[in-house]
Amino acid sequence: MSDPIQVNPPRLNLANLPTPLQALDRLQQQRPGPRIWLKRDDLTGCALSGNKIRKLEFNLAQAREEGCDTVISCGGLQSNHCRATALLCAQLGLHCHLILRGEPPAVGDGNLLLDQLAGAEISVYPPQQYQRELDQLLLHWQSHYQAQGRRAFVIPTGASDAIGVWGYFKASEELAADCQRSGISPRHIICATGSGGTQAGLSAGAHCYIPGAQVWGVNVCDDEAWFLNKVGHDLQDWQQRYHLDIDVGALSVKVIDGYVGPGYAKADEEVYRCIADLAACEGVVLDPVYTGKAFHAMLCERERGRFGDDGDIVFVHTGGIFGLFPHRQHFDFLNG
Ligand SMILES: Cc1ncc(COP(=O)(O)O)c(C=O)c1O
Repeated sequence: MSDPIQVNPPRLNLANLPTPLQALDRLQQQRPGPRIWLKRDDLTGCALSGNKIRKLEFNLAQAREEGCDTVISCGGLQSNHCRATALLCAQLGLHCHLILRGEPPAVGDGNLLLDQLAGAEISVYPPQQYQRELDQLLLHWQSHYQAQGRRAFVIPTGASDAIGVWGYFKASEELAADCQRSGISPRHIICATGSGGTQAGLSAGAHCYIPGAQVWGVNVCDDEAWFLNKVGHDLQDWQQRYHLDIDVGALSVKVIDGYVGPGYAKADEEVYRCIADLAACEGVVLDPVYTGKAFHAMLCERERGRFGDDGDIVFVHTGGIFGLFPHRQHFDFLNG
């Protein structure tokens, strides 16, 4: 058994780290309450920006370690994870094949356009077939490459697996150093949760590096029970794969449910207004699929008193800006 703090799994140096930790002082003046800080993981690196690159530093290192020349991954048509994977594969000279859920649009937009620019091979499946057959589809394409004498490495949805947990475990060490420099001891750390890996890494990482803080994931799809199970499984797999000396069953994993709204990648007007307000107030851009929903949830829960009357909250800005543009029609209210 090894102390997770001492373990150094294979890792590529891809993200621009450390990212800034920034206080939202103007927002604070408008909305008094516990102070809000942003961990600017939207700035992990230009078009690769966001949380995925932290996990992919480990998943792609593992692909290299196993001698793979191809990476297969999957997600929605506007998946930030798939975009980051496609661009990083191009950067590393790996072939990338994306299995996407949705109906093929007439023209690429947002992340899909970036996938295409990065030269990824793209296979789009209707949502029902994707849901039903994802595992078989991944195996099918893996065998397809094997038959060609190639070796394909599969990265699951959102790189949320035992390997990807390292991304935000290690990010927690960085965040602890940020907090020390800023002279704060946050009581709450909040992130958007879509496939659970960011929350899993932060929950284990905060336990080791920021022990006074509770990590909360705001689910943007499914529900609390689904994510408690998913995050718990990812943590168990992580502990077992690396023989870690940490009782992951005793970690405090918490989900803020109730803000999915009309569904995954759909939002109510209050989320679009929250995005516009923060951009105008602080010059920080959120997206309607993940960070905008989670930030809106955090403000609502802060007003309701879930985080107490004072102290510091860290919201992890996990990126996602390219998912904003396919929602342009919902910002009509900006035109008067
Ligand atoms: C911008 C953004 N924020 C948050 C998340 C959620 O992270 P995770 O998939 O690790 O739960 C994702 C991906 O799902 C994302 O693309």
